[in-house]
Amino acid sequence: MPTRILGIETSCDETAAAVVDDGRVVRSSVVSSQVDLHARFGGVVPEIASRAHVELINEVVEEALVEAGTELRDLDAIAACHGPGLAGALLVGVSAAKALALTADLPYVGVNHLEAHLYAAWLQEPALQPPIVVLLVSGGHTLLVVMEDHGRYRVAGQTVDDAAGEAFDKVARFLGLGYPGGPVIDRLAASGDANAIRFPRAMRDEVDFSFAGLKTAVVNHVRRNPGTSVPDVAASFQEAVVDQLVDKLFTVAGTAGVGTVAIGGGVAANSRLRERVGDEAAARGLRVFLPPLELCTDNGAMIAAAGWWQLARGAPTPLDAGIDPNLRL
Ligand code: KG4
Ligand code: ZN
Repeated sequence: MPTRILGIETSCDETAAAVVDDGRVVRSSVVSSQVDLHARFGGVVPEIASRAHVELINEVVEEALVEAGTELRDLDAIAACHGPGLAGALLVGVSAAKALALTADLPYVGVNHLEAHLYAAWLQEPALQPPIVVLLVSGGHTLLVVMEDHGRYRVAGQTVDDAAGEAFDKVARFLGLGYPGGPVIDRLAASGDANAIRFPRAMRDEVDFSFAGLKTAVVNHVRRNPGTSVPDVAASFQEAVVDQLVDKLFTVAGTAGVGTVAIGGGVAANSRLRERVGDEAAARGLRVFLPPLELCTDNGAMIAAAGWWQLARGAPTPLDAGIDPNLRL
């Protein structure tokens, strides 16, 4: 019998649920994005997110069960993201998971959102063995994680200011391209020249990241050159971000002496980042995992997978455990 886990994710602006067997076989994955609700504010509005999660959570969970051809009583555990994230948003998913766990007399597992992003690589390749270095890049986080074993992580580098996704979102907003910024800059960059403008590459000799200066450089460039080509700005900005991410990923992989690298988080959907990480890994003879886009952005399958690995090495989470908006890896 497979261990069948329902995973629930509501840490930010995606209401998501998925059913995953044995931490590796995705039977269903339903993601209801609230992007349209937040777009006109240029970013996620926490109160709106919480309310939307409340409205959507039951039908998203129901849909995940139906799509998986399963029922509550066929499940073996319920996992939910309990942090980091927006407090009100996290509460919705965790409360739903606990209510279901109580009703069906199932164990509940609280999952760390960052750990879940790492496990997207395992959904892609279940036989993957640590050690592995993962570049975790999302709207809220930019981390280089050396995963020495399941449950054993070392953060080798992180951003000292903005997260990579945040930089994409802020630059897109400044250019009037809408929210979220990553996908639109990615698209626009395809028709621009990445060498048109030489934006700064910060923190060259370190493994930490910085994107605030780059954002300011983009703003200054556009203000000084009102007629500048927006696709060129997008492509040159993206190249500067990707350069920084790729440089440090492979520096850390080299010093940690690992043979495998992976990427995760929403920015891992970026086409230029995927191309560059793939090329660089090939040049160095490293194995590389670039999870499919739907596993890079927030989803319930990664929560269920991380929950499975957590249960495999320990006990379920007590039902009186709360949420932690500032949870670390
Ligand atoms: O992991 P995620 O879905 O949510 C968080 O946990 O933050 O990441 C969302 C972030 C946003 O900042 C969005 O602009 C960025 O991922 N993103 C991208 C792309 N797709 C999403 N950034 C660059 N290129 C993309 N194709
Ligand atoms: Zn995320």
